[in-house]
Amino acid sequence: MGRLEELQQRRERAKLGGGAERIARQHKAGKLTVYERLEVLLDDDSFAELDPFVVHRTSDFPLEKIPGDGVVTGYGRIGGRKVYVFAQDFTVFGGSLSEAHAEKICKIIDLAMKAGVPVIGLNDSGGARIQEGVVSLGGYAEIFLRNVLVSGVIPQISAVLGPCAGGAVYSPAITDFILMVQQTSYMYVTGPKVVKTVTHEEVTHEALGGADTHASKSGVAHFSEPDEVSCLERIRDLISYIPQNNRETPPRAFCDDPPDRYEPALNAIIPETPNKPYEMRRIIELIVDDGVFLEVHRDWAQNILVGFARLDGRSVGIVANQPTHIAGVLDINASVKAARFVRFCDCFNIPLITFVDVPGFLPGTDQEWNGIIRHGSKLLYAFAEATVPKVTVIVRKAYGGAYDVMSSKHIRGDFNFAWPTAEIAVMGPKGAVEIIYRKEIEQASDPDALEEKLVQEYIEKFANPYIAAERGYVDDVIEPAQTRNILIKSLEMLETKRDTNPWKKHGNIPL
Ligand code: HXC
Repeated sequence: MGRLEELQQRRERAKLGGGAERIARQHKAGKLTVYERLEVLLDDDSFAELDPFVVHRTSDFPLEKIPGDGVVTGYGRIGGRKVYVFAQDFTVFGGSLSEAHAEKICKIIDLAMKAGVPVIGLNDSGGARIQEGVVSLGGYAEIFLRNVLVSGVIPQISAVLGPCAGGAVYSPAITDFILMVQQTSYMYVTGPKVVKTVTHEEVTHEALGGADTHASKSGVAHFSEPDEVSCLERIRDLISYIPQNNRETPPRAFCDDPPDRYEPALNAIIPETPNKPYEMRRIIELIVDDGVFLEVHRDWAQNILVGFARLDGRSVGIVANQPTHIAGVLDINASVKAARFVRFCDCFNIPLITFVDVPGFLPGTDQEWNGIIRHGSKLLYAFAEATVPKVTVIVRKAYGGAYDVMSSKHIRGDFNFAWPTAEIAVMGPKGAVEIIYRKEIEQASDPDALEEKLVQEYIEKFANPYIAAERGYVDDVIEPAQTRNILIKSLEMLETKRDTNPWKKHGNIPL
């Protein structure tokens, strides 16, 4: 056989993975093969594979040496931009992780780190290669270490497209975004069988660690997608908002949505009654380019919205209280969700736009006993340490500590605006009046009438944006219809902003 023929044959063998029968099983389970996945994920003909001939080194068991050893690695492009990828092949020993398999993944992360290029991992694995024992555990730890070291330097995105169990979950967990597919992927530290033995709970894979569970209950997954193709397309979309590394800014997109688009609907969007909810997404959509808002963590902690959009083609991270869900109050999950997002944007030079309508922090034993103090402070910490451009718009309520937390002037908001409907005060009118006028109300001949009168006085005096504006805590009170134009001009002015934090090894965010 000629040398080129041999190469050709070896390549063909490598492409077959675990063989036709296992590929058929993969398809039957509603899953694509690794190469099919990479075809959807990457630009046409852009994938270049590395290490296709790597095999395992196990000698304790009679294990076939399948080229590639259960993971396909290499590089390619998304929207013309470079990415490194690894994709576990479930058809080869269940995608289980051997020493050689781990070395291939580590090589990819090392290359990505040196070149300042994002890494995308497609996970589909039965976990540690049982035949390799501790060597496999060591392999995992080598990956975890790299995930940590490159965190905040290059973006890391994980799709979970099959099993991901035991300690293996901690690699995706450390990366910036996790995407899962409904019905075909699951993540858990221990599976249903162990759960039954230990806690006597009966639970299915899907209920314990499926896509919807992690996207709505635990917050582990940022996206839950109906099928693999939408999951892989979501990654393409997501990456378009993100720079290649922490020294670059995100790519600017073409935009034909006029920067000075006047949006009269915004002038009437806040209801007359202060406690009436409205859809914050509508505000965001009316302001951003072409109404496109890529929401992250859409189904978890729905009282706060986070996600990416563009303003005149510039990528921005948006954080916004959501009045339709528990009045947009800040609770533990909302604080954690937004804090993580803010820190991602700050790592990767993505300006933050914050829309505020927050009545305060959620009261109650559940929140206090579970540490709202500890968790709420994460969001405060994240906004305060962020040095990216920060523009805040208070559209309605900004009460109490939540006013400070939501990217206020005092924690280095660059431009802070308020709509005329803004109410900025220590607390809501009714609560405030009941505390400061308790004696007067108790002693009044008609307590209800007095209380009502005092509430009205309080509203006129404090529930407005002008006291904050007099102090310069908001830079201007703006007409809502002009918000898009004002935000775009602000971002232009902040394009050359430079700010730093004091030198430190790292801060000590309350975890
Ligand atoms: C070696 C494995 C394997 C593993 C699966 N296979 N998991 N081989 N090591 N961990 C092989 C199977 O032997 C089988 O080979 C093929 O992959 C497909 O597996 P099936 O069981 O037929 O598939 P399915 O029914 O879909 O079940 C998938 C599964 C199950 C739920 C993942 O395979 C399973 O429970 N595997 C073991 C999971 C596990 O306990 N892993 C170690 C956990 S500890 P053939 O030749 O028949 O096709 C861990 C910790 C990491 O991972 C620690 C990091 C710090």
